[in-house]
Amino acid sequence: MNTSARVVAIDGPSASGKSTTAHEVAIRLGLVHLNSGLLYRAITWTALRDGWIDAPDFDSRLAALNIELELDAPTFRLRIDDERPGTWLQSVGVTARVSEVSARAVVRERVNRALRAASEGADLVVDGRDIGTAVFPDAFLKIFLTATPEERARRRLAERREETEADAVTAEAHRLRERDRYDASRVIAPLARAEDAVELDSTERGRAEVVDEIVRLYEARASRA
Ligand code: CDP
Repeated sequence: MNTSARVVAIDGPSASGKSTTAHEVAIRLGLVHLNSGLLYRAITWTALRDGWIDAPDFDSRLAALNIELELDAPTFRLRIDDERPGTWLQSVGVTARVSEVSARAVVRERVNRALRAASEGADLVVDGRDIGTAVFPDAFLKIFLTATPEERARRRLAERREETEADAVTAEAHRLRERDRYDASRVIAPLARAEDAVELDSTERGRAEVVDEIVRLYEARASRA
């Protein structure tokens, strides 16, 4: 691992706003945003599409995949076997299987290798579940971003331009809780707050306020470094 690269790690449960927050923080600080969830989603998408998600040769099919992260500041463009999966990655089918796929050790090793290789070329803001605990334990700044399941459900539905009436929010909050439970109880690199992470609850704070707070924390730390 390149310990001289500067990494801001933003972890937290599903739909807590990590990705949009990380993206804005990267722009404000002149860093590059890398969304680790997209790599797990891309592997799940390909395995589903090509029919090897439950196959006994899963590991060798994974090993044969070509995963590329192309720097395009302030973000990376993801290509998997020369394709850009785009909005398919957020589909219900991928979301339903991604936690199970990402609990596999071979998948985590593959993704972590790609994340660490990306950090060789740029200072990053990386969002995920285990960035501050397992992938970049020496990160310059670690944030654990939370919000209540209901608030996260409302945001997720609004993002998908779906109805946000009470029943829909309750159903989506249930799905998010289930995924969090799965992610937090897996054996390898479970969703967890790093001991030295700053916990920010965004339930009652707007995105701009959360971004400002992270930028302030970063600058305070940088002025002491
Ligand atoms: O957008 P959302 O917060 O719902 O999820 P995501 O960040 O796209 O991640 C999708 C799934 O990938 C998570 O539910 C985890 O199972 C897995 N993941 C992980 O295990 N470790 C990471 N560093 C990032 C994602």
